[in-house]
Amino acid sequence: MSEHGPQPTGPSSAGTWCCLGGGQIYTEADKELADAIGLSFPVVPAAARASRAFLERVVDHTARAGIAQFLDLGTGLPVEPNTHQVAQAVEKSARIVYVDNDPTVLEHGRALANLGTPEGAVAYLDGDVRHVTKVLGEAARTLDLNRPVAVLMLSMLGHIEDPAEAGEIARRYMSAVPPGSYFATCDSVDSSDMRAAAAAYAAGGGPPIHLRTAAELELTGTGLDLLAPVGPISLWHPAEPAPQPVDQWGFVARKP
Ligand SMILES: C[S@@+](CC[C@H](N)C(=O)[O-])C[C@H]1O[C@@H](n2cnc3c(N)ncnc32)[C@H](O)[C@@H]1O
Repeated sequence: MSEHGPQPTGPSSAGTWCCLGGGQIYTEADKELADAIGLSFPVVPAAARASRAFLERVVDHTARAGIAQFLDLGTGLPVEPNTHQVAQAVEKSARIVYVDNDPTVLEHGRALANLGTPEGAVAYLDGDVRHVTKVLGEAARTLDLNRPVAVLMLSMLGHIEDPAEAGEIARRYMSAVPPGSYFATCDSVDSSDMRAAAAAYAAGGGPPIHLRTAAELELTGTGLDLLAPVGPISLWHPAEPAPQPVDQWGFVARKP
């Protein structure tokens, strides 16, 4: 992934992930790569579906805990229910800022944003999450950063090669929000299946995915109280009995 987001041709992270996760918005190139990967490595579509389901449970959980502001970094293409739909179903006045550096995401996201509740607010920012000060400055037009925020970085920090840099980015976002704020993250873990899948994804023209260990994931939660240890996200407050573990691991944490 370049500093300026994906190239206009070839498979993108947002398009392949949307296709793998059961969404409807993708190009031919995205579908070709997603189908090939999904067929050879079922662990990947399982991870993409689990990531969307995790998003839904995390937003619902934090909204019920009283959070009415959400900063969704590396949003991806819309796959229902999206963050604002889950949050505003609990709290009509919830305010959501989506951030992505893929122009296709913004194009689709802006159209969807019009469907938010009249009491709340939904904004889309064309931004690179690594530009923390700029993103926070623009997000502050919609969110009150003096009140708690749930910061979501789901299946996106693995696009940043260095886990220490990913940890530092997360830390900077969390230092800009007050105690009582939440942080949620997940990424593909360094398992033998995921290693083979990531190599095939890159060989097929997909943007590089950097797999993480549990310790590297935990780095992004430094200084926060983890609600449960880092682990497969399908096991975090599962919606169904006896869920299968997936190779997409993460955690939810609260700022003390
Ligand atoms: C694999 S998708 C995950 C989407 C969504 N968060 C989910 O869990 O379903 C990763 C998304 O992060 C975006 N992304 C990657 N690097 C980014 C960056 N540096 N700044 C902003 N967005 C980024 C991609 O464009 C893509 O939409």
